[in-house]
Amino acid sequence: MKQYPVAIITGASRGIGKSCALGLTQAGYQTVLISRTESTLQTVVNEINKNSIKDVTIEPLVYPMDVTDKEKIRQLIDEIQNQFGRIDLLINCAGFLKPGTLNISDYDFENMIKTNLVSPFYLMKEVVPLMKKAGKGHIFNIVSRAGKIGFEGEGAYVATKFGLLGFSESLYRELSKEGISVTAICPGWVNTDLSKQAKAPLLDEEMIQPEDIMKTIAWVLELAPNTCVREITLECFKSIA
Ligand SMILES: NC(=O)c1ccc[n+]([C@@H]2O[C@H](COP(=O)([O-])OP(=O)(O)OC[C@H]3O[C@@H](n4cnc5c(N)ncnc54)[C@H](OP(=O)(O)O)[C@@H]3O)[C@@H](O)[C@H]2O)c1
Repeated sequence: MKQYPVAIITGASRGIGKSCALGLTQAGYQTVLISRTESTLQTVVNEINKNSIKDVTIEPLVYPMDVTDKEKIRQLIDEIQNQFGRIDLLINCAGFLKPGTLNISDYDFENMIKTNLVSPFYLMKEVVPLMKKAGKGHIFNIVSRAGKIGFEGEGAYVATKFGLLGFSESLYRELSKEGISVTAICPGWVNTDLSKQAKAPLLDEEMIQPEDIMKTIAWVLELAPNTCVREITLECFKSIA
């Protein structure tokens, strides 16, 4: 039986994660889609099925769950391992932005740290041993330009993203000798629900499009096996300052 490469994508129901789900499924991956809302994940699967390519598109698996639930993550990775025996690619994309620096509730700050920073840690902790056994694998952490620059009024979000960038870069150095590449993607405003809720000061067409993130990932995946990319920053022409 043909073995397909397996890709796990968190935050796959909307925005950047959805774009990755569409792109990787079309590229022939067995995708595993995670977010909390089953109905929106199912909508993504329907869209994929509608545009499926014979002999290439494999129906994605859907796992509705909160990425902060480490027990569920453990079960999920066990299930994937038992079913497919491999995990080739992990995209840590689930995340949210609550504005505020000191004027944010303890709950919101703690929840944002758990979702944006601790959950990628849980996932990588479970996935990396399997990649090490295989001697290969790709991890993409969707960080942000806010992982590199502090922004007035968004200190809590910025802290989660600085944390994820530091974690990602450290793992990049630790895992390169094992054949595993860890890439941090740091976009400015992307045209998604998140940027609308955050009142991004740009028109939709002035922002990076979610598909641009998938194209960036596809580019990294096509490089020679010994080439690794630590970090990629994408910016919008109109908000570079
Ligand atoms: N949009 C931007 O301007 C921008 C720029 C730089 C970086 N980023 C980063 O890119 C990532 C994706 O953002 P986006 O713009 O695509 O946002 P989005 O459109 O709001 O999508 C967020 C995704 O994350 C999922 N999610 C959120 N919390 C979750 C949780 N606790 N457990 C499981 N899934 C969860 C959401 O699904 P459910 O609600 O169904 O769970 C949804 O699928 C985030 O990490 C964000 O920080 C975004």
